[in-house]
Amino acid sequence: MTTLHDKFGRQITDLRISITDRCNFRCVYCRSADPENYRDHDEILSWPELDRLARVFMSLGIRKIRITGGEPLVRDGVEDYIARLHALGVEDLSMTTNGQLLAERCDRLIAAGLRRINISLDSLDAGKFERITRTKSFSTVMHSIDAAQKSRLAPAKVNAVLVRGINDDEVEAFASYARASGVIMRFIEFMPLDADRHWTRGLVVPAAEIHQRIQARWPLTQIPHERSETARKYRFADGAPGEIGLIAPVTQPFCGHCSRIRLTADGKLRTCLFSKDDHDLRSLLREGASDEDLSTYICSVVMEKEEGHRINEPGFVQPSRTMVFIGG
Ligand code: 5AD
Ligand code: SF4
Repeated sequence: MTTLHDKFGRQITDLRISITDRCNFRCVYCRSADPENYRDHDEILSWPELDRLARVFMSLGIRKIRITGGEPLVRDGVEDYIARLHALGVEDLSMTTNGQLLAERCDRLIAAGLRRINISLDSLDAGKFERITRTKSFSTVMHSIDAAQKSRLAPAKVNAVLVRGINDDEVEAFASYARASGVIMRFIEFMPLDADRHWTRGLVVPAAEIHQRIQARWPLTQIPHERSETARKYRFADGAPGEIGLIAPVTQPFCGHCSRIRLTADGKLRTCLFSKDDHDLRSLLREGASDEDLSTYICSVVMEKEEGHRINEPGFVQPSRTMVFIGG
């Protein structure tokens, strides 16, 4: 079987599929407060197109698929798509969601074959949550996390993006929440992917600082991780439930072990979050390419995957696509 490799010898086994660029939140570190600039519906891949690409990617050795957005649960038919991916034999099927629509959908997602879930939660304070997400969904999201924790999706991964001066005072509160609820609490460094381009290095809260602060309160024991995993994982030394994950794309880049690529909702293949270019699979699909043509093209694009992001190099430029259009 052909597998996907790049010229640095990395094997690509993980695919993130963004199924929509729409989102019912407008998180400050992601989207702008400005009016919508969504793609037209016909620019977004249809379910049959997404099915076909999933098959082609699986034939190239993709084993892990994460469904993302925008917010994936705003698009009708997610459960059916997950069921089809499951039937195709995807070993590791997960989703990233903001949790707003999750509680009542958990059972159907699990029945479809979903096994893991990441839910965003950027504050444990309702008012601050509202300011960050520009919604009033705090209690709904907390309820969704509880529902996930009571389901086969437990333990849920709960993602917080810390931004200096906004929610960096909540590190200990989040850790305490992990201990009480048993979730895997993950802290993600703020990356320069926000629509408003407010990112500066000074707004990044380094993972080392988060580690130090939690460790000072509740000593942590590191858990071994797979090479390609982005998170450094810790459990509480006193045996309390819950886990801590630290994801440090800015201060400790993990590009050297990256095993992932991304498909955007409008059918572009991206080999890095920070790629300057993306590669148009939608046109190929719509111009009648065969599966073999698609495979050949995907292999050649992946071969050229960039060695790493250049956030820490002089002259770094933010990609023109922001997170909501790439898929987290
Ligand atoms: N930096 C870091 N993480 C981000 N996300 C969205 N924008 C950014 C950013 N600028 C995360 C969300 C969610 C996932 C979809 O991507 O918090 O967990
Ligand atoms: Fe929506 Fe996720 Fe972006 Fe927030 S981070 S606006 S929930 S896509």
